Amino acid sequence: MAQIFHRSTNTISRLSIFGGIFLVAGLIGLFAVLDRSSYNTGVGVVLAQPIPFSHDHHTAALGISCVYCHTSVEDSAFAGIPPTATCMNCHNLIWNQSPMLAAVRESYRTGEPIRWTRVHDLPDYVYFNHGIHVAKGIGCESCHGRVDLMPLIMKTESLQMEWCLDCHRQPESRVRPLSEIYTMGWRPEHADQGTRLIAEHDINSKVSCSTCHR
Ligand code: HEC
Ligand code: HEC
Ligand code: HEC
Ligand code: HEC
Ligand code: HEC
Repeated sequence: MAQIFHRSTNTISRLSIFGGIFLVAGLIGLFAVLDRSSYNTGVGVVLAQPIPFSHDHHTAALGISCVYCHTSVEDSAFAGIPPTATCMNCHNLIWNQSPMLAAVRESYRTGEPIRWTRVHDLPDYVYFNHGIHVAKGIGCESCHGRVDLMPLIMKTESLQMEWCLDCHRQPESRVRPLSEIYTMGWRPEHADQGTRLIAEHDINSKVSCSTCHR
């Protein structure tokens, strides 16, 4: 019987089947990369702020503790952003003519709070709580990175579900003594310290969906 299609079309159709598979695989791969990329997660991206407030300057250079400004971080879900009055404790005396601080003085005069842009922002369907993490020995650095070296604050972690779960499954390498919560650049003193602290702080693996989706 005469062939309707030339032999070579067999090869072409095989190629196009494989091509289709590769295309689908490629798209899935691309999606995975985009999902984890800084374009999607905002890791390492500095957002515009009304005042160029430097954590580096105020924490590392001046030695002000995190909790002086983020007052509710130890006992509440939210760490809290300091009110203008906290800035004015110092800036009514220091650098009180600086143009960089004009927006701070304006806010203090009018009583209108400074509108900072949120950098870390979980979706509403996720429950997060600072207090429990601080109480169980997870330092600020483990989730926010070397804030003391940041002239402008940025995210250092994706805050995606797999990031949370990664630590919830194996917190050993991330737990520290309660005295080191605010320390930047802390390293474990010996290999089994994490395992001991897990017992000491009574930490349990929290991976059920209702832990974070209530
Ligand atoms: C002098 C006050 C002050 C001190 C001290 C301070 N912060 Fe902040 N922090 C702020 C202000 C104001 C903002 C909001 C402006 C901004 O995001 O740049 C902020 C923002 C942040 C954010 C981002 C909030 C968001 O929008 O997601 C994190 C994380 C943070 N601080 C962590 C720390 C840590 C960790 C320390 C200690 C090493 C610390 N801060 C010390 C005043 C302070
Ligand atoms: C405990 C005192 C203290 C507090 C509280 C404080 N600052 Fe400062 N800030 C300083 C000092 C001291 C400097 C000058 C640092 C230097 O240049 O060595 C400074 C510098 C600055 C500068 C740079 C000014 C310039 O012209 O270079 C900005 C902007 C600033 N602070 C914003 C803030 C904001 C916003 C807050 C409140 C969230 C705040 N500060 C809270 C002590 C403080
Ligand atoms: C287990 C991880 C983790 C630890 C530890 C942690 N944070 Fe956070 N922080 C987050 C997440 C996640 C958010 C975003 C919360 C949201 O969107 O509801 C956040 C938000 C913030 C904010 C913005 C205001 C707010 O409460 O939403 C500040 C300020 C902050 N953290 C400071 C700190 C300081 C200071 C420490 C150390 C005492 C600390 N954080 C420890 C994960 C952490
Ligand atoms: C670096 C480690 C670490 C990271 C990252 C982390 N957690 Fe946790 N989380 C812990 C530890 C340790 C506990 C305490 C577990 C316990 O109660 O024994 C905890 C407890 C919690 C609790 C309270 C559980 C309860 O039953 O009361 C919630 C809610 C929570 N985490 C949410 C989150 C979310 C949401 C994220 C991601 C945005 C996150 N955590 C990221 C270490 C971490
Ligand atoms: C330790 C905290 C934590 C636990 C436990 C957890 N999640 Fe999540 N989940 C998150 C966070 C954080 C996000 C937001 C991720 C983002 O913004 O990219 C999320 C997002 C989601 C989403 C939205 C889609 C996505 O992947 O972004 C679904 C669906 C979801 N979780 C289902 C579950 C189910 C089902 C379980 C139980 C097997 C579970 N989660 C357990 C923290 C958690």
